[in-house]
Amino acid sequence: MAAPETSGAVRESYAIRTVDLVKRYRTTTALDGLTMTVGHGEVFGFLGPNGAGKTTAVKLLLGLTRPTAGEAWVLGRPMGDRIARRRVGYLPELFRYQDWLTARELLALHCDLAGVPRAEQPAQITDTLELVGLARRARDRIGTFSKGMQQRIGLAVSLVGRPDLVFLDEPTSALDPVGRHDVREIIRTLRTRGTTVFLNSHLLTEVEQVCDRVAIIDAGRVIAMGTMDELRGRRDVVRLRLGGVGPGALETLRRYGDLEIESGSYTVTGLMPARVPALVTELVGLGCEIFAVEPRSQTLEDRFLELLGGSNGAAENRPPHPA
Ligand SMILES: Nc1ncnc2c1ncn2[C@@H]1O[C@H](COP(=O)(O)OP(=O)(O)OP(=O)(O)O)[C@@H](O)[C@H]1O
Ligand SMILES: [Mg+2]
Repeated sequence: MAAPETSGAVRESYAIRTVDLVKRYRTTTALDGLTMTVGHGEVFGFLGPNGAGKTTAVKLLLGLTRPTAGEAWVLGRPMGDRIARRRVGYLPELFRYQDWLTARELLALHCDLAGVPRAEQPAQITDTLELVGLARRARDRIGTFSKGMQQRIGLAVSLVGRPDLVFLDEPTSALDPVGRHDVREIIRTLRTRGTTVFLNSHLLTEVEQVCDRVAIIDAGRVIAMGTMDELRGRRDVVRLRLGGVGPGALETLRRYGDLEIESGSYTVTGLMPARVPALVTELVGLGCEIFAVEPRSQTLEDRFLELLGGSNGAAENRPPHPA
Protein backbone atom coordinates (compact mmCIF):
# COMPACT_ATOMS: atom_id res chain seq x y z
CA MET A 1 0.00 0.00 0.00
CA ALA A 2 1.25 3.48 -0.78
CA ALA A 3 2.36 5.51 2.21
CA PRO A 4 -0.17 8.26 3.02
CA GLU A 5 2.48 10.89 2.16
CA THR A 6 2.71 9.75 -1.42
CA SER A 7 -0.97 9.10 -2.05
CA GLY A 8 -2.53 10.69 -5.13
CA ALA A 9 -4.59 13.18 -3.12
CA VAL A 10 -1.54 14.64 -1.41
CA ARG A 11 0.46 14.82 -4.62
CA GLU A 12 -2.33 16.62 -6.48
CA SER A 13 -2.66 19.30 -3.83
CA TYR A 14 0.82 20.66 -4.63
CA ALA A 15 2.27 22.05 -7.83
CA ILE A 16 5.63 20.60 -6.81
CA ARG A 17 6.59 18.18 -4.10
CA THR A 18 10.02 16.66 -3.52
CA VAL A 19 10.96 14.07 -0.92
CA ASP A 20 14.62 13.47 -0.02
CA LEU A 21 15.87 14.26 -3.49
CA VAL A 22 19.56 13.46 -3.89
CA LYS A 23 21.77 14.18 -6.90
CA ARG A 24 25.40 13.17 -6.81
CA TYR A 25 27.86 13.85 -9.55
CA ARG A 26 31.19 12.04 -9.50
CA THR A 27 32.83 14.16 -6.83
CA THR A 28 30.04 16.55 -5.85
CA THR A 29 26.77 16.17 -4.01
CA ALA A 30 24.61 18.81 -5.70
CA LEU A 31 21.41 17.92 -3.80
CA ASP A 32 21.63 16.30 -0.42
CA GLY A 33 18.08 15.32 0.56
CA LEU A 34 15.87 18.10 -0.79
CA THR A 35 12.36 18.05 0.67
CA MET A 36 9.91 20.83 -0.13
CA THR A 37 6.46 21.68 -1.43
CA VAL A 38 5.15 24.43 -3.68
CA GLY A 39 1.43 25.20 -3.73
CA HIS A 40 -0.65 25.79 -6.87
CA GLY A 41 -0.61 29.43 -7.93
CA GLU A 42 2.28 30.33 -5.65
CA VAL A 43 5.21 32.48 -6.62
CA PHE A 44 7.92 30.45 -4.96
CA GLY A 45 11.46 31.74 -4.48
CA PHE A 46 14.29 29.24 -4.50
CA LEU A 47 17.12 31.15 -2.96
CA GLY A 48 20.68 30.10 -2.40
CA PRO A 49 24.30 31.03 -3.05
CA ASN A 50 26.25 29.96 -6.14
CA GLY A 51 26.56 26.19 -6.29
CA ALA A 52 23.77 25.58 -3.76
CA GLY A 53 21.93 23.23 -6.15
CA LYS A 54 19.18 25.47 -7.53
CA THR A 55 19.68 24.68 -11.21
CA THR A 56 20.20 20.99 -10.46
CA ALA A 57 16.82 20.88 -8.67
CA VAL A 58 15.05 22.46 -11.65
CA LYS A 59 16.73 20.08 -14.11
CA LEU A 60 15.60 17.09 -12.04
CA LEU A 61 12.04 18.37 -11.82
CA LEU A 62 11.94 18.82 -15.58
CA GLY A 63 13.40 15.36 -16.20
CA LEU A 64 16.53 16.77 -17.87
CA THR A 65 18.68 14.74 -15.49
CA ARG A 66 17.91 11.81 -13.19
CA PRO A 67 18.13 11.75 -9.40
CA THR A 68 20.54 9.53 -7.49
CA ALA A 69 17.76 8.95 -4.93
CA GLY A 70 14.47 10.40 -3.78
CA GLU A 71 11.15 11.23 -5.39
CA ALA A 72 9.35 14.25 -6.76
CA TRP A 73 6.03 15.15 -8.39
CA VAL A 74 5.30 18.04 -10.71
CA LEU A 75 1.63 18.95 -11.25
CA GLY A 76 0.70 15.63 -9.71
CA ARG A 77 2.86 13.51 -12.03
CA PRO A 78 6.24 11.90 -11.35
CA MET A 79 9.08 14.28 -12.27
CA GLY A 80 10.03 14.24 -15.93
CA ASP A 81 6.61 12.89 -16.96
CA ARG A 82 5.70 13.98 -20.50
CA ILE A 83 2.09 14.91 -19.75
CA ALA A 84 3.14 17.28 -16.96
CA ARG A 85 5.93 18.70 -19.12
CA ARG A 86 3.41 19.97 -21.65
CA ARG A 87 1.98 22.21 -18.92
CA VAL A 88 5.36 23.53 -17.80
CA GLY A 89 7.46 26.45 -19.09
CA TYR A 90 11.19 26.82 -18.56
CA LEU A 91 13.64 29.68 -18.79
CA PRO A 92 17.09 28.06 -18.47
CA GLU A 93 19.92 30.01 -16.85
CA LEU A 94 22.22 29.61 -19.84
CA PHE A 95 20.52 29.45 -23.20
CA ARG A 96 21.02 30.42 -26.77
CA TYR A 97 18.30 30.49 -29.38
CA GLN A 98 18.61 30.40 -33.16
CA ASP A 99 20.23 33.76 -34.04
CA TRP A 100 18.80 33.79 -37.54
CA LEU A 101 15.13 33.62 -36.48
CA THR A 102 13.09 36.71 -35.75
CA ALA A 103 11.37 37.02 -32.38
CA ARG A 104 8.02 36.07 -33.96
CA GLU A 105 9.51 33.09 -35.81
CA LEU A 106 11.16 31.78 -32.66
CA LEU A 107 7.91 32.01 -30.70
CA ALA A 108 6.00 30.36 -33.57
CA LEU A 109 8.48 27.47 -33.46
CA HIS A 110 7.91 27.11 -29.72
CA CYS A 111 4.14 27.39 -30.18
CA ASP A 112 4.38 24.41 -32.54
CA LEU A 113 6.50 22.51 -30.01
CA ALA A 114 4.00 23.33 -27.25
CA GLY A 115 1.07 22.23 -29.42
CA VAL A 116 -0.62 25.63 -29.63
CA PRO A 117 -3.14 25.42 -32.53
CA ARG A 118 -1.95 27.41 -35.57
CA ALA A 119 -5.08 29.62 -35.53
CA GLU A 120 -4.31 30.78 -31.98
CA GLN A 121 -0.61 31.40 -32.53
CA PRO A 122 -0.54 34.97 -33.95
CA ALA A 123 -2.59 36.41 -31.09
CA GLN A 124 -0.68 34.49 -28.46
CA ILE A 125 2.69 35.54 -29.91
CA THR A 126 1.65 39.21 -30.00
CA ASP A 127 0.36 38.98 -26.44
CA THR A 128 3.55 37.32 -25.17
CA LEU A 129 5.88 39.77 -26.93
CA GLU A 130 3.92 42.61 -25.40
CA LEU A 131 4.11 41.05 -21.97
CA VAL A 132 7.93 40.87 -22.11
CA GLY A 133 8.31 44.33 -23.69
CA LEU A 134 9.53 43.20 -27.12
CA ALA A 135 6.49 44.07 -29.26
CA ARG A 136 8.50 46.61 -31.26
CA ARG A 137 11.28 44.11 -31.98
CA ALA A 138 8.94 41.35 -33.18
CA ARG A 139 10.40 41.24 -36.70
CA ASP A 140 14.06 41.62 -35.72
CA ARG A 141 16.45 38.70 -35.67
CA ILE A 142 17.44 37.27 -32.27
CA GLY A 143 21.09 37.69 -33.28
CA THR A 144 20.68 41.49 -33.20
CA PHE A 145 19.26 41.54 -29.66
CA SER A 146 21.13 42.92 -26.67
CA LYS A 147 21.77 40.63 -23.68
CA GLY A 148 18.75 41.97 -21.83
CA MET A 149 16.53 41.51 -24.87
CA GLN A 150 17.82 37.94 -25.22
CA GLN A 151 16.72 37.32 -21.65
CA ARG A 152 13.30 38.81 -22.38
CA ILE A 153 12.86 36.59 -25.43
CA GLY A 154 13.87 33.60 -23.26
CA LEU A 155 11.16 34.58 -20.83
CA ALA A 156 8.68 34.84 -23.73
CA VAL A 157 9.63 31.32 -24.88
CA SER A 158 8.97 29.97 -21.38
CA LEU A 159 5.46 31.46 -21.44
CA VAL A 160 4.40 30.15 -24.83
CA GLY A 161 1.45 27.75 -24.54
CA ARG A 162 0.29 29.45 -21.32
CA PRO A 163 1.88 26.93 -18.93
CA ASP A 164 0.40 26.22 -15.48
CA LEU A 165 3.88 26.23 -13.98
CA VAL A 166 7.00 28.11 -15.05
CA PHE A 167 10.55 27.57 -13.89
CA LEU A 168 12.58 30.76 -14.18
CA ASP A 169 16.27 30.20 -13.53
CA GLU A 170 17.80 33.60 -12.68
CA PRO A 171 15.51 35.51 -15.07
CA THR A 172 17.01 38.92 -14.36
CA SER A 173 20.74 38.19 -14.38
CA ALA A 174 21.30 40.20 -17.60
CA LEU A 175 18.74 42.92 -16.98
CA ASP A 176 19.10 46.57 -16.05
CA PRO A 177 17.03 47.98 -13.15
CA VAL A 178 14.11 48.78 -15.47
CA GLY A 179 14.25 45.25 -16.87
CA ARG A 180 14.27 43.78 -13.36
CA HIS A 181 11.27 45.85 -12.47
CA ASP A 182 9.54 44.66 -15.66
CA VAL A 183 10.20 41.01 -14.79
CA ARG A 184 8.71 41.53 -11.34
CA GLU A 185 5.63 42.99 -13.03
CA ILE A 186 5.46 40.02 -15.41
CA ILE A 187 5.65 37.63 -12.47
CA ARG A 188 2.82 39.54 -10.76
CA THR A 189 0.75 39.25 -13.94
CA LEU A 190 1.41 35.51 -14.00
CA ARG A 191 0.24 35.30 -10.40
CA THR A 192 -3.05 36.98 -11.27
CA ARG A 193 -3.49 34.44 -14.08
CA GLY A 194 -3.04 31.65 -11.52
CA THR A 195 0.29 30.46 -12.94
CA THR A 196 2.67 28.86 -10.45
CA VAL A 197 6.12 30.43 -10.66
CA PHE A 198 9.28 28.73 -9.42
CA LEU A 199 11.92 31.43 -9.29
CA ASN A 200 15.58 30.51 -8.87
CA SER A 201 17.53 33.45 -7.63
CA HIS A 202 20.34 34.67 -5.47
CA LEU A 203 18.95 38.22 -5.56
CA LEU A 204 17.35 38.75 -2.19
CA THR A 205 15.51 41.94 -2.99
CA GLU A 206 14.00 40.36 -6.08
CA VAL A 207 12.71 37.41 -4.12
CA GLU A 208 11.58 39.61 -1.26
CA GLN A 209 9.51 41.83 -3.51
CA VAL A 210 7.72 39.22 -5.54
CA CYS A 211 7.54 35.82 -3.80
CA ASP A 212 4.76 34.42 -1.62
CA ARG A 213 6.98 31.73 -0.13
CA VAL A 214 10.67 31.04 -0.16
CA ALA A 215 13.02 28.13 0.42
CA ILE A 216 16.60 28.97 1.26
CA ILE A 217 18.99 26.26 0.20
CA ASP A 218 22.63 25.75 0.90
CA ALA A 219 24.82 22.84 -0.13
CA GLY A 220 21.84 20.95 -1.56
CA ARG A 221 19.56 21.16 1.47
CA VAL A 222 16.68 23.39 2.51
CA ILE A 223 17.85 25.34 5.53
CA ALA A 224 14.67 27.45 5.88
CA MET A 225 11.28 27.58 4.20
CA GLY A 226 8.20 29.71 4.73
CA THR A 227 6.42 32.93 3.91
CA MET A 228 8.44 36.11 3.89
CA ASP A 229 7.16 37.06 7.35
CA GLU A 230 7.96 33.64 8.75
CA LEU A 231 11.47 33.77 7.36
CA ARG A 232 12.29 37.27 8.44
CA GLY A 233 11.10 36.48 11.91
CA ARG A 234 8.97 39.03 13.64
CA ARG A 235 11.69 40.63 15.68
CA ASP A 236 11.09 44.34 15.74
CA VAL A 237 14.17 46.51 15.63
CA VAL A 238 14.42 50.20 16.53
CA ARG A 239 17.45 52.32 15.84
CA LEU A 240 17.97 55.48 17.88
CA ARG A 241 20.43 58.29 17.36
CA LEU A 242 21.15 59.68 20.78
CA GLY A 243 23.42 62.14 22.55
CA GLY A 244 24.32 62.45 26.22
CA VAL A 245 23.84 58.77 27.00
CA GLY A 246 24.96 58.01 30.56
CA PRO A 247 25.07 54.69 32.45
CA GLY A 248 21.42 55.09 33.55
CA ALA A 249 20.24 55.47 29.92
CA LEU A 250 22.29 52.46 28.85
CA GLU A 251 20.68 50.39 31.56
CA THR A 252 17.23 51.57 30.41
CA LEU A 253 17.95 50.73 26.77
CA ARG A 254 19.05 47.22 27.79
CA ARG A 255 15.83 46.75 29.72
CA TYR A 256 13.82 47.28 26.49
CA GLY A 257 15.67 44.76 24.31
CA ASP A 258 19.03 43.52 23.02
CA LEU A 259 21.27 46.54 22.61
CA GLU A 260 23.95 47.13 19.99
CA ILE A 261 25.94 50.36 19.91
CA GLU A 262 27.78 51.74 16.91
CA SER A 263 29.11 55.31 16.74
CA GLY A 264 26.20 57.18 18.30
CA SER A 265 23.61 54.76 16.94
CA TYR A 266 21.80 52.50 19.40
CA THR A 267 19.95 49.52 17.97
CA VAL A 268 17.43 47.80 20.20
CA THR A 269 16.21 44.42 18.94
CA GLY A 270 13.01 42.87 20.24
CA LEU A 271 11.36 46.18 21.08
CA MET A 272 7.64 46.28 20.27
CA PRO A 273 6.58 49.52 18.50
CA ALA A 274 3.96 50.14 21.20
CA ARG A 275 6.72 50.46 23.80
CA VAL A 276 8.76 53.07 21.89
CA PRO A 277 7.02 56.17 23.41
CA ALA A 278 7.66 54.89 26.94
CA LEU A 279 11.33 54.32 26.14
CA VAL A 280 11.68 57.79 24.63
CA THR A 281 10.02 59.39 27.68
CA GLU A 282 12.41 57.56 30.00
CA LEU A 283 15.45 58.56 27.94
CA VAL A 284 14.39 62.22 27.92
CA GLY A 285 13.91 62.02 31.69
CA LEU A 286 17.48 60.73 31.98
CA GLY A 287 18.79 63.76 30.07
CA CYS A 288 19.38 62.11 26.66
CA GLU A 289 19.18 64.11 23.46
CA ILE A 290 17.07 62.29 20.85
CA PHE A 291 18.00 62.94 17.23
CA ALA A 292 16.18 60.09 15.54
CA VAL A 293 14.02 57.05 16.24
CA GLU A 294 13.79 54.67 13.28
CA PRO A 295 11.81 51.44 13.38
CA ARG A 296 13.28 48.81 11.07
CA SER A 297 12.11 45.29 10.42
CA GLN A 298 14.59 42.55 9.73
CA THR A 299 15.18 42.16 6.01
CA LEU A 300 15.42 38.90 4.16
CA GLU A 301 19.09 39.68 3.66
CA ASP A 302 19.68 39.87 7.43
CA ARG A 303 18.01 36.48 7.78
CA PHE A 304 19.78 34.95 4.79
CA LEU A 305 23.20 35.93 6.10
CA GLU A 306 22.27 34.76 9.58
CA LEU A 307 21.16 31.36 8.24
CA LEU A 308 24.15 30.86 5.97
CA GLY A 309 26.45 31.95 8.77
CA GLY A 310 24.79 29.34 10.96
CA SER A 311 25.28 26.50 8.47
CA ASN A 312 29.06 26.69 8.54
CA GLY A 313 29.60 23.00 8.05
CA ALA A 314 27.70 23.17 4.81
CA ALA A 315 29.43 26.36 3.75
CA GLU A 316 32.83 24.69 4.14
CA ASN A 317 31.76 21.91 1.80
CA ARG A 318 30.66 24.41 -0.77
CA PRO A 319 32.96 24.59 -3.79
CA PRO A 320 34.91 27.81 -4.21
CA HIS A 321 32.84 30.50 -5.91
CA PRO A 322 33.66 31.14 -9.52
CA ALA A 323 35.74 34.31 -9.90
N1 LIG B 1 26.83 18.25 -14.83
C1 LIG B 1 27.50 18.39 -13.67
N2 LIG B 1 28.59 17.65 -13.42
C2 LIG B 1 29.26 17.78 -12.25
N3 LIG B 1 28.92 18.64 -11.27
C3 LIG B 1 27.84 19.41 -11.47
C4 LIG B 1 27.07 19.33 -12.68
N4 LIG B 1 26.04 20.21 -12.60
C5 LIG B 1 26.15 20.81 -11.39
N5 LIG B 1 27.23 20.32 -10.72
C6 LIG B 1 27.67 20.74 -9.37
O1 LIG B 1 26.54 20.69 -8.50
C7 LIG B 1 26.59 21.79 -7.59
C8 LIG B 1 25.28 22.58 -7.71
O2 LIG B 1 25.25 23.23 -8.98
P1 LIG B 1 23.99 24.08 -9.47
O3 LIG B 1 24.28 24.49 -10.87
O4 LIG B 1 22.77 23.32 -9.21
O5 LIG B 1 24.06 25.34 -8.49
P2 LIG B 1 23.19 26.68 -8.47
O6 LIG B 1 22.60 26.81 -7.12
O7 LIG B 1 22.29 26.73 -9.64
O8 LIG B 1 24.34 27.79 -8.60
P3 LIG B 1 24.36 29.23 -9.40
O9 LIG B 1 23.75 30.24 -8.48
O10 LIG B 1 25.83 29.46 -9.58
O11 LIG B 1 23.62 29.06 -10.69
C9 LIG B 1 27.84 22.59 -7.92
O12 LIG B 1 28.85 22.19 -7.06
C10 LIG B 1 28.12 22.17 -9.36
O13 LIG B 1 29.51 22.26 -9.63
MG1 LIG C 1 22.11 27.94 -11.25
